[in-house]
Order: sequence, then C-alpha cells, then structure tokens
Amino acid sequence: MSIRIAGTGSYVPDKVLTNADLEKMVETSDEWIRTRTGIQERRIAAPDQATSDMAYIAGSRALEMAGVKGEELSAIIVATITPDHVFPGTGCLLQKRFGAPGAFCFDLEAACSGLLYSLEVAYSLMRVNRKYKYVLVCGAEKLSCITDWTDRNTCVLFGDGAGAVLLENVDDDQPGCVLASDLHADGNYGDILLMPAGGSRMPASEESVRERMHSIRMAGKETFKLAVPSMVSASRKVLEEAGVAPSEVKLVIPHQANQRIIHAVAQRLDVPEERVYENISHYGNTSAASIGICLDEVVRNGLIERGDYVLLTAFGGGLTWGALLLKY
Ligand code: UT7
Repeated sequence: MSIRIAGTGSYVPDKVLTNADLEKMVETSDEWIRTRTGIQERRIAAPDQATSDMAYIAGSRALEMAGVKGEELSAIIVATITPDHVFPGTGCLLQKRFGAPGAFCFDLEAACSGLLYSLEVAYSLMRVNRKYKYVLVCGAEKLSCITDWTDRNTCVLFGDGAGAVLLENVDDDQPGCVLASDLHADGNYGDILLMPAGGSRMPASEESVRERMHSIRMAGKETFKLAVPSMVSASRKVLEEAGVAPSEVKLVIPHQANQRIIHAVAQRLDVPEERVYENISHYGNTSAASIGICLDEVVRNGLIERGDYVLLTAFGGGLTWGALLLKY
C-alpha cells in the first residue's frame, strides 16, 4: 500500500504585467527588476476572478490527468493567504464546484510554504487512514489583491496563479511519493513578512485602508538572508534522511521568490543550475501556488518520469520553511 501523485494541474491568468508596465506605475526599471529578482513579467487575475476560480481550474486539470471525478475526492486542502473569504473556506467553495459531497475541506495558511505543508498533512492523513483514497491539494493565490501597487519594494515581486496535486492511496508495495520531509516555523520573525490589517488584530477601518495596511509588507533583505540557509538546511536534511545524494536528484523545485535565492540554494546544495527548475521570469512570486505550478510544468513537459527523485523546498511568511523529497 502506498501513496502516489496521480495528477497535477496548474493555471495562470491571461493578463500579463511586464516590467515595462511597472516602470509606468512606480519608480523602477526593467534592469533593476531583472537583475535583483530574475522576474520579467507576472500574471494578474481579472477583477472578477477569485482564488477559488484559479484553484478550480488547476484542480480540474489534475483530476483530468488522473481520470478521477470530483465526486471521488475524500478531501480538498487549499494552501493560500488570499482566500476568497475569511470564511467559508476556499476548500468548501471548491467542494461545491467539484461536486464532492464526501470530501472534508479546509484551507491551510503557511504563506509560501503552504503547498509543502499541505502535501505533508495530506500524505500523513492518507497513510494513517486509508479510507482517504483521493486528496486534492491546491496552492492558489490572488496576490495582486494584497499588493500595494505604490510600493516598489514589493509590487514588482508578486503574481497570481494556482497549482494542484492529486494524491492517491494505491494498493502496491512501492514506497510512497514522499520519501522524507523537514518542515519548520519560527514565529519570532512574524513581523518581517506580513499583511498587517484585515484580521482581528487590526480589523478593516478607514485608517487601515488609507495607510495601505491591507497589503504585503516585507523586510526584503532580512527575508533573503534567512531564506537561503533555511531552504538549504531543510533540503540537506531530507536528502540525508532518505539516503539520496544531491547528484541523484532529477530536479530541485524551489519556491520561486527570487532568482538569486534559487541560484544560491542550488550552489550550496551543489546541484547544477540546469537541474533546478525556474519559471520566476514569467510568473514572479505566486506564494503557495509557485511550487504547484512548477511541478505541473515539469510533469507535463516530460522533465521528470515515474521513479525520479524531486526535491521541493520553500520559505515564506510566518516564518515557515521546509523541504520534501518526492519519488515521482
Ligand atoms: O516569498 C517569500 C519569501 N520572499 C523572499 O524570500 C524575498 C526575499 N527578498 C528579496 O528577494 C530581495 O531582498 C528584494 C528583491 C525584495 C530586494 O532586493 P535587494 O537586493 O535585497 O535590495 P534592497 O531591498 O537592499 O534595496 C536595494 C536598493 C534600495 O535603494 P537604496 O536604499 O540602496 O538607495 C531600494 O530602495 O534598491 C531599491 N529598490 C528598488 N529600486 C528600483 C527597491 N525596490 C526597487 C525597485 N526598483 N523595484
């Protein structure tokens, strides 16, 4: 008995916001954005398109790949910091659209590490209780609605999109798809990457809107410095635990926060850059969606095959971070 990835899916909105577009909005330059982040463009959801709409398309594509119907789902987990509503949960909205009456559903908030956290939760649940046959894990974000479009420090970084992974409990004697995991959090650094308003600490008010408190605030340099060693240490841990050498890993899929972070992680792990997957230039940082979008792209483009080792690693607000070693 084991658990495998039965399907993957992703979706990004049609609207492209280029660095040239941003040059007209804030004091920045294409050159600065490219050299400091590696980002050339990002996707922006339509005004009437919410996070669940993107997650639904990504999830549908994962189900379609696996030949599974919505009604067969046992659970739906949505990793997001931009749910449609505080409640009901985005997972419940998806349940209705998938026609999955038997599924229990919830959202998981671990910022950019949300997909890794959700995969770990889903995988562990499925191992303990084999009645959960199919669990759909989505990472989906409409970050454009919590971006301060007057703040050049942050508005050049983020984009919208969704990724999905369908896990299946199967009757075979293979090892499961998650060979090792190493997840962490450190709330002491909660204030270096946050959205100050909109929760019970600072409910929406005229002042909170005026002061632009309903958008992402980030101490970029400090976050950068913590991101690299954290992702490297978690990645080393899972490789060690599984007894897999970096040279045996077919692809490393890091959270797409900054190309310089991605390259620094690759270098410290001693993995050549051609075995580190990147799509940040096209989508920017899509938080919980980023690893799911990457995974779907590598599956659909045939960059990994069944049995390959794939290392996922993420870092984000909370702080939260970690790594999962997959055997696809
Ligand atoms: O997904 C969750 C995790 N997120 C991350 O891990 C992101 C981590 N941080 C980063 O990716 C980088 O720190 C940033 C891309 C956010 C910033 O890059 P940096 O090399 O750390 O730049 P900086 O913040 O030190 O800023 C350098 C200069 C500053 O000017 P002064 O003070 O040196 O005169 C900024 O004001 O660049 C300026 N700057 C900009 N200039 C043009 C900041 N943003 C921009 C901009 N265009 N968009």
